[in-house]
Amino acid sequence: MYYIGIDLGTSAVKLLLVAEDGQICNSVTKEYPLEFPQPGWSQQNPEDWRKAVLEGIPQLLEGFDGSQVAGIGCGGQMHGLVVLDDQDQVIRPAILWNDGRTAKQVDYLNEQIGRQTLSQLTANIAFAGFTAPKILWMRENELENFARIAKIMLPKDYINYVLTGVHSCDYSDASGMLLLDVQNKCWSQRMLEICGITQEQMPQLFESYQCIGTVTPEMARQLGIPQTTKVVAGAGDNAAAAVGTGVVGNGGCNISLGTSGTIFISSDTFGVDPNNALHAFAHADGGWHLMGCMLSAASCNKWLCDEILKTTDYAKEQQDITPEKLGENHVFFLPYLMGERSPINDTNARGTFIGMTMDTTRADLVQAVLEGVAFAIRDSFEVARSLGIAIPTTKICGGGSKSPLWKTIFANVLGIPLEIVKTEQGPGYGGAMLAMVGCGQFESVQAAADALVSVASTVEPDPALTAAYEKRYQQFRRIYPAVKQLFPEIQ
Ligand code: XUL
Repeated sequence: MYYIGIDLGTSAVKLLLVAEDGQICNSVTKEYPLEFPQPGWSQQNPEDWRKAVLEGIPQLLEGFDGSQVAGIGCGGQMHGLVVLDDQDQVIRPAILWNDGRTAKQVDYLNEQIGRQTLSQLTANIAFAGFTAPKILWMRENELENFARIAKIMLPKDYINYVLTGVHSCDYSDASGMLLLDVQNKCWSQRMLEICGITQEQMPQLFESYQCIGTVTPEMARQLGIPQTTKVVAGAGDNAAAAVGTGVVGNGGCNISLGTSGTIFISSDTFGVDPNNALHAFAHADGGWHLMGCMLSAASCNKWLCDEILKTTDYAKEQQDITPEKLGENHVFFLPYLMGERSPINDTNARGTFIGMTMDTTRADLVQAVLEGVAFAIRDSFEVARSLGIAIPTTKICGGGSKSPLWKTIFANVLGIPLEIVKTEQGPGYGGAMLAMVGCGQFESVQAAADALVSVASTVEPDPALTAAYEKRYQQFRRIYPAVKQLFPEIQ
């Protein structure tokens, strides 16, 4: 039997064909455009996702027996607002997780409704990327579109709808809408009322590993897979990535270095950060997690290389950053190219280089970007520590984790070992694992992780380098408070 794992990302969809023993048999990546119609706005057309998935699956199955596909599971970019009319047609481009247009609506929710009320209702406060403020934005700015909304869903739920005709959402992804009562795993009636929407407009809720249905006859024909192919509800990409790296159950940690950068701490009990700096969300294994999310992580390095240095050879740019330079860089970078979510929650924050001199090199700037991202993840790591959570070690995944240098920087900035799993394929692998559970191959997500995920290598921190980075981190954390008040003025 085969399982298809879908990672519906921000720059591309990555499809994985996984055999029942966990071997990855094939993968296909299809890119799609990302629009920034105004500074800080970020949109994508769900039709592009649909096309990429429907073209990608037949390519994925080329040379394989499609009749052996048993299940499909999707991990998707979180929080994106997808709105359908009563004919299930997409009303407007999806407003994505890294879109910052909702500062006013976020203020309304946090100040007028109040952080405490929001936290009681949903376990979280409002952040610009979350879905509820976007619904309020539509109500204020696109009343005609708002009036046409028949269904509200998240990006991967749209793909699941295309495959099955079922409007569904899982608890991990639904947690990031600010519409879910996360502890009781149901839509919050009060939050729906605050946003001017009804239960009928919301999709049906499932655990990530539960089947929402089978593919439609038309999809089975078009994709070359059986009509019996089951589709599970899937998960937000961070929960799916955590499943893929075996971070399930209690006390595991996963860092994902993709377009966004996240630190994900799994738990078998529900808990809320009293300051709501970390998100308190449901996990794809039936439990919960705390998460810090920075909006620009590997994308900072991509921006510097692609847009400024005009190169796509990232490894070459890192060659001159020799071991003796680590911990010695006097240039710092605040990685806030799209504003920032965790833990500072500031849509006005901007990317900033500081500390350059006449002898600063190109490599110093590249190093500052890699270090700035690690320092910013450390900010969320410190919040978790301040809650008494012990993080003795972490898994790491995502595009940025392919760089040995960046992994060394992370291990020493955090001062803990980083573990890299054998089948490091992020959310797509987690999606396939969820499909295996939904099809009955494993009795739980934990059982799937125990059977399929193992550590291939570990990057250990070096005590002297950790001490040098400790000094640099203490300097880094003073920069944002010092320049923060300038950001709104200089836009
Ligand atoms: C998590 C978040 C991002 C996206 C990226 O809260 O916004 O990690 O899920 O796809």
